[in-house]
Amino acid sequence: MSDLAQIGVSGLAVMGRNLARNLARNGFSVALHNRTSAKTKSLVAEHGDEGTFVPTETLEEFVAALERPRRVVIMVKAGAPTDAVIDELVPLLDEGDIVIDCGNAHYADTRRREADLRERGLHFVGAGVSGGEEGALLGPSIMPGGSKESYATLGPMFEKIAAQVDGTPCCVHVGPDGAGHFVKMVHNGIEYADMQLIAEAYDLLRDGLGATPAELAEIFAEWNSGDLSSFLIEITAEVLGHTDAATGSPFVDVVVDEAEQKGTGRWTVQTALDLGVPVTGIAEATFARALSAHPDQRAAARAALPGPSEAAQKVPAEERDAFVDDVRKALYASKVVAYAQGYDQMAAASTEYGWDIDLGAMATIWRGGCIIRARFLDRIKDAYATERPASLLVAPYFRDAVADGQQAWRRVVAHAARAGIPTPGFSSALAYYDALRADRLPAALIQGLRDYFGAHTYRRTDRDGSFHTLWATPDRSEVEA
Ligand code: 6PG
Repeated sequence: MSDLAQIGVSGLAVMGRNLARNLARNGFSVALHNRTSAKTKSLVAEHGDEGTFVPTETLEEFVAALERPRRVVIMVKAGAPTDAVIDELVPLLDEGDIVIDCGNAHYADTRRREADLRERGLHFVGAGVSGGEEGALLGPSIMPGGSKESYATLGPMFEKIAAQVDGTPCCVHVGPDGAGHFVKMVHNGIEYADMQLIAEAYDLLRDGLGATPAELAEIFAEWNSGDLSSFLIEITAEVLGHTDAATGSPFVDVVVDEAEQKGTGRWTVQTALDLGVPVTGIAEATFARALSAHPDQRAAARAALPGPSEAAQKVPAEERDAFVDDVRKALYASKVVAYAQGYDQMAAASTEYGWDIDLGAMATIWRGGCIIRARFLDRIKDAYATERPASLLVAPYFRDAVADGQQAWRRVVAHAARAGIPTPGFSSALAYYDALRADRLPAALIQGLRDYFGAHTYRRTDRDGSFHTLWATPDRSEVEA
C-alpha cells in the first residue's frame, strides 16, 4: 500500500475531527490539516491508534500527502471561510482532483464553486452531512452532490462511513452540482418544522394537563415506541426528563425561551418562496423561532394583550387520556404535512435545476444517521417506490393515517385557539391540508380584486384565455386580454 493517504480532511473542529476519525476507523488512511496545528496534534495524540493518520502542517504538505486523484474534504465554516480555503487549495491541486465541502453551505454557493472548479479541471462536491458530532463519528447520513465521476471514486468511501439501515448505507449520489447541499438544506428545514411541532405538542400537554416535564417525558417516551418513533421524539423525552443540577428544577424551565438558528431553516424558506412552493410548516417554525427571540416585544404584549380565561385552558380530568391521544395524532398529521411540503420543494428544485433527484432515495438515506431519522421514513421510501405521488399526503399510507387522525387534529387546533396556546405549526398544517383538498379556493376572489384595482386579468372556468372586466364602465363589460 502506498504511503500516500487515501483522503484528506482540512478543518478539524469537532465535525471535521469526527469525520476524519470515522474514515480512519473504517480503514482509510487520512491526511490531516488545520489552520492551526494544535488541533491536528491533539487528534493524533488522542486518537492516533484508531487508524492511519498523516498529520500535516501546511496545505502544501497536506496536498502532497494525498494519493491521486486527491480527495480533499473541507470542513470549515460555511461562507467566506470556505471560499478562503478553496482559493488557497486550488492552485495546489491537479486535474481530476476532488474537493468535497461537507459543511452546511448554501446550495447556490455550491453551484458557483462547482462551476468554477469544473472550469479548472477539478471536481467540487457539496456534500450534506447530518447527524451532529456523534453522527460524524459513528455514521452520519451523507448527501453528496457533484459529478457522477467524482461519486465513483468518493461514493464507496462515504457509503462505508455512513450510517447503515437494514444493510443499506445512508448515502447516495443526490445529483449534480448543488443538489446535495440543497437536499441537506431541506432536511434542516424539516428538522425545524419537526422540532416546532414537538414543542407545540409539549406546550399543549403541559398547559392542558398541568403535567410536569418529567411526566411529559414519559408520554414522549411512550410515543417513541409507535408511529412517531424518531430520534427527535426520543431526545425530547431525554431533555424533558432532565433535572437542572444547579437548581433542582426541570432543565426545560431554566433555559431561556428564545430559539436561535444558524440559517439553514431561513434559507429553506427563502428558496421555497423563489420556487413558489408553500413550505408553511418550515416557514412557521422559522418565524416561531424569530418571534421567540424578541423578548422586549413579547414583554410589552404580555402586559397589554388579554387572553382567554384560565378555565378555558384546562382539559377536564376525564378527557385527559383522549387529549393526549389527540395531540399525538395531530402531531403525526402535521408532521406528514411538513414532510410533504419539503418533498415538494426538493421536487421543484430538481426540475428547476435538472437534478433528477430520486425522492425515494432521500427517504432511504434519512432513515439513519441524520437528525430527522424516523420510522416514518420507511413509509416515505415506499410512497415513492413506484410513481411520484402528487403530494405525500395522497400516497395511500399517509392519506389513511392522516384521515384517521383528522378529527383529533381539528379538536387539538380548536382547543389551542380556545385556550390561547400558540400552535402555528399544527394550525398552519391543518390549514394547508384543508386548502389542498378544497373544491374551490377563495383565490378566485383574489383574482377578481387584482383585476379590479390593477387590471391584472383572470382566467375563466368555462373557457380558455385571459380576461379583464371594465370595472369603471357602467355595464362592467368583459374584454379578452
Ligand atoms: C444536522 C443538523 C445540523 C445542525 C443545523 C441546525 O443535520 O446534523 O441539522 O446541521 O443542527 O446546523 O442548526 P440551527 O438550529 O442552529 O440552525
